[in-house]
Amino acid sequence: WAVIFHRKRRGDDRLPPQVRYNLPIEILYTALPFVLIAVLFYYTARDEDYIDTLTANPNVTVNVVAYQWSWQFNYPQYNVTDNGVMYPGPLPLLELPVGETVRFNLTSPDVIHSFWVPEFLFKRDVIPGHPNHFQVTLTHTGTFTGHCSELCGLYHSRMLFTVKVVSQQQFQQWISARQSSSTTTSSTGQTAVKTATRSVSK
Ligand code: CUA
Repeated sequence: WAVIFHRKRRGDDRLPPQVRYNLPIEILYTALPFVLIAVLFYYTARDEDYIDTLTANPNVTVNVVAYQWSWQFNYPQYNVTDNGVMYPGPLPLLELPVGETVRFNLTSPDVIHSFWVPEFLFKRDVIPGHPNHFQVTLTHTGTFTGHCSELCGLYHSRMLFTVKVVSQQQFQQWISARQSSSTTTSSTGQTAVKTATRSVSK
């Protein structure tokens, strides 16, 4: 358009209209983005604060270890650990009580993973050397599937786990049943990690 219609015409030596600065518009251009950014910043900071809130004494703490390519869930208060293997499983089980504050501590021994349960409407990266935390209070019971949502290698898509949100009574029963089963926490954890790695490497 510009090339064809604003071509210099023969015999036309006039300058096009020269525009000078316009102070009100200049001020508007400067002030308006500043106001927009300030408003967006306020709401972002406010909501981040809310989402990242951690209470001092959560009812249940779960230490989550994400590794290539499965999950380990430790309940340090109860000395209970759940392991599993990647899909088709048996998948690791994350059992949680409804209506109680649950704090997650996320760690990874290898690469970056991401803890994601779609029904929680929330995900958080699991980063080696940088423990992450978050807290939820679940409002509904149900069984869901958790995912890894950060590409972490060959079997990323199989890095699934089962989430069971149950009543507080059922949760206590599950914990007691786990405690009375003979396996000890740390040794099973190590075994699961090694098994998962080995089964992949052949
Ligand atoms: Cu772990 Cu993707």
